[in-house]
Amino acid sequence: MGRIPILLCVAALTAAAPALAGAADGDAILKQQCAPCHALSKPSDLSLERLWKRKGPDLYYAGVKFNQQWLVQWLQNPARIRPAGEFYFKHVKMTPGGDIVDIAALPRHPRLSKADAEAAAAALMALKGPDAMVSKGAFKKQAVPALIGAMFFEKLRGCAACHMDKPNSGGLSGPELYDAGKRLQPDYIYAYIKAPQRFDPHIWMPQLDLSETDLQRLANYLAARQDAAAK
Ligand code: HEC
Ligand code: HEC
Repeated sequence: MGRIPILLCVAALTAAAPALAGAADGDAILKQQCAPCHALSKPSDLSLERLWKRKGPDLYYAGVKFNQQWLVQWLQNPARIRPAGEFYFKHVKMTPGGDIVDIAALPRHPRLSKADAEAAAAALMALKGPDAMVSKGAFKKQAVPALIGAMFFEKLRGCAACHMDKPNSGGLSGPELYDAGKRLQPDYIYAYIKAPQRFDPHIWMPQLDLSETDLQRLANYLAARQDAAAK
């Protein structure tokens, strides 16, 4: 009598095991492995102190920010995006010859297996943040000659003081943008340039008084940047 339930249990477990082993739980990965460094829901405290102390960029609006395919690749093989880490002032040494990044002080990002990266990316894409953070369709695709885009980005609108639009060329205090088109959704690029403080009230990217023509030109220039090796 007593043996039948045990046998049934074993049979049930054996049947369930392949399914459990095959499907990684993206939400559980985010909660257990990512939440210590990344905000997965909108923080109730958006003070300057919170920004200063955060250990990684906010991910609570990841679903309106990233391209899923990029997430899957990057989580398996993370490469530096912010040339001087989070945040640059903790890792930059000021010298008479200019700022030098203290590479040794930069931590390495955790790396996921393919199955875990796919599950985590899918869970991240479900995090949309508050409504209207990024308006869908605000970005209008147009052909902007790379030379014109670069001139605005580097010279006329001063973006290169903080960002690289080409590898090893540009500032260190903002994320690199030379493969922005691979990493980021075009509507997000547009929304961020238009109103950076909507994403964090204390982020030090200035809100510039850019015309709609300028915004579209810069967003199109960046959305077309696809390749880390692009010159
Ligand atoms: C020890 C802290 C830490 C942990 C744990 C961590 N991250 Fe990160 N993460 C960072 C930092 C710091 C950066 C910024 C790296 C850079 O810009 O070069 C980052 C960047 C990212 C980015 C790119 C963000 C952007 O705005 O470009 C994604 C996506 C990401 N992490 C996802 C994850 C996921 C998913 C996990 C859990 C599996 C995780 N991270 C665990 C610290 C961490
Ligand atoms: C004073 C420095 C500074 C200047 C100047 C600046 N930015 Fe930024 N930018 C930042 C910082 C800091 C962030 C967000 C950092 C983070 O998420 O860790 C940012 C974020 C961005 C993002 C979103 C990238 C991402 O990975 O989330 C885009 C797009 C962007 N900037 C474009 C521009 C453009 C275009 C200009 C010129 C009109 C510009 N920036 C000028 C500092 C700057």
